Amino acid sequence: MILKISATLSILTVLLAAYAKHAMPPAVWDAHVTIMTDYVNSIISPTSSPASSSPPPKENLSSSPSKYDLCPSELAAYTGADPDLPILLSVGGYIFDVSAGAKFYGPSGPYKIFAGCACTRALSIGSMDPEDRNDNLEGVSKEAVEGQVKFYTDKYEKVGTLKKDC
Ligand code: HEM
Repeated sequence: MILKISATLSILTVLLAAYAKHAMPPAVWDAHVTIMTDYVNSIISPTSSPASSSPPPKENLSSSPSKYDLCPSELAAYTGADPDLPILLSVGGYIFDVSAGAKFYGPSGPYKIFAGCACTRALSIGSMDPEDRNDNLEGVSKEAVEGQVKFYTDKYEKVGTLKKDC
C-alpha cells in the first residue's frame, strides 16, 4: 500500500514537472489527472470498484479469436460510440479488444483518439499527435513496437489481425 502510494506520488511529480515545462498539452494533463485520481481511489477504497464506469458485458469473443480481422476503414467503427460494438484498436498488425479499458479509450476517455485506429506509430513513440495515428514505422524501433504489442497482449484480448490491401 505504502509502495503504491509512493509510486503514485512519483508519477504525479513527473506529470507536474512535464506540465510545468509545457511538455504536456493541457488536455493530456487533464486526462492523466483523471487517471491518477481513479488510481488513488482504487488504492484507498479497493472495494469501491469503478463498476459504474465499466462497459456493459460484451459478447464472449474468446471462441472466435479472428472474429475481427478488419480493414482500417472497418476498424474505424469500433470507437465505443456504438455501445453495441466493442472498442478495438490495432497495434503491430494485431487487433485488440480494449473495451475493458473504456475509461481510457471510450468516447470520453483521454485516449479516445486511439480507438478504432491502427496506431502502432503513435503508441510506439508515445505521441498524441493525430498525424502519428498510423502504422508508418519509419524511425520507430522494433523493440518499441514489440513492447506495445506485449503490453496490449498482456492486458487485453487479441481478437484479430489488421487486413491490408483493402
Ligand atoms: C508525462 C507523460 C505521461 C504520463 C506520466 C502518463 C501516465 C499514465 C498513467 C499513470 C496511465 C494509467 C496506467 C494504468 O492505470 O494502468 C496512463 C495510461 C495510458 N497512457 Fe499515459 N502518460 C503520459 C503520456 C502519454 C502519452 C504522450 C501517450 C501517447 C501515446 C500516452 C498513452 C497512454 C495510453 C494509451 C494509456 C492507457 C493504457 C492502457 O490501456 O492501460 N500517455 N498514462
